[in-house]
Amino acid sequence: MDLQIAGKTALITGASKGIGFAVASALAAEGVRLVVNARDAGALGEAAERLRALGAEVHPVAGDVSELKHVKSLLAATREAVGDPAILVANAGGPPTGPAETLDDAAWARGFELTLMSAVRLARGVVPAMKAAGWGRVVFVTSLSVKEPIANLTLSNAFRSGVTAFARTLANEVAEHGVTVNSVAPGYTLTERLDELFADDYARARLVSTIPARRFAAPEEIASAAAYLCSAQAAYVTGQMLLVDGGMVGTTY
Ligand SMILES: NC(=O)c1ccc[n+]([C@@H]2O[C@H](COP(=O)([O-])OP(=O)(O)OC[C@H]3O[C@@H](n4cnc5c(N)ncnc54)[C@H](OP(=O)(O)O)[C@@H]3O)[C@@H](O)[C@H]2O)c1
Repeated sequence: MDLQIAGKTALITGASKGIGFAVASALAAEGVRLVVNARDAGALGEAAERLRALGAEVHPVAGDVSELKHVKSLLAATREAVGDPAILVANAGGPPTGPAETLDDAAWARGFELTLMSAVRLARGVVPAMKAAGWGRVVFVTSLSVKEPIANLTLSNAFRSGVTAFARTLANEVAEHGVTVNSVAPGYTLTERLDELFADDYARARLVSTIPARRFAAPEEIASAAAYLCSAQAAYVTGQMLLVDGGMVGTTY
């Protein structure tokens, strides 16, 4: 299906690998002009080359989205490269892990800046121009932890729920201007993040056995959902959280 976004501009953060790179690839295939971000400039440059091989216009801008000054310079560099982005896909690495009982204030502060405030700052930075243009798409990459807390991922559980509530609130504020705000909540997906969290084969096999689909997601499967939310066809879908989890979260609602 043609998503009818060819020629539009997108800023995708956390885009050098994993889910973010898969989203960038999906939008590149639709003819979207891309600004891609991650911290490691070398890996980001290589990712940009792979995206260009798909025929896309790609501008890599390195920086850490957990820091306000980097978000500001990323937004300025984006405007310089492609103008105000019509699409934002806000993604990054996961916050520090640890149990709720013992995580210290420094870890909480890190999770707040990385997971919640990066999303808030990026969205605040792009939404005014989207409203003025009468068209915009904001997609946050969150996690199934929003529906069902994951043991030891206290900060992900807490701050991604915050992102989801922020998205719902912002969605209602801007819907009349043709701007939609949604999130994609991935289930367990085959990326380096999964390798970090579940290095042990036995733990991985046990985890897979709890997923109704009996397999992990490919990053491209999460990206397809994100790309749909960026499409012209999704114009009337806003404030939603789209779980892409192979059936893992077993609740009816
Ligand atoms: N994989 C899963 O099973 C799964 C499930 C649910 C939710 N999620 C969430 O989905 C998101 C993406 O996951 P993933 O598995 O694709 O992770 P990944 O493979 O580790 O990729 C993370 C990407 O974000 C970039 N990044 C990390 N921290 C950043 C920062 N502070 N500023 C800018 N870029 C940053 C990384 O590049 P640099 O390191 O160079 O910055 C990389 O490009 C994460 O938040 C993760 O927690 C993942």
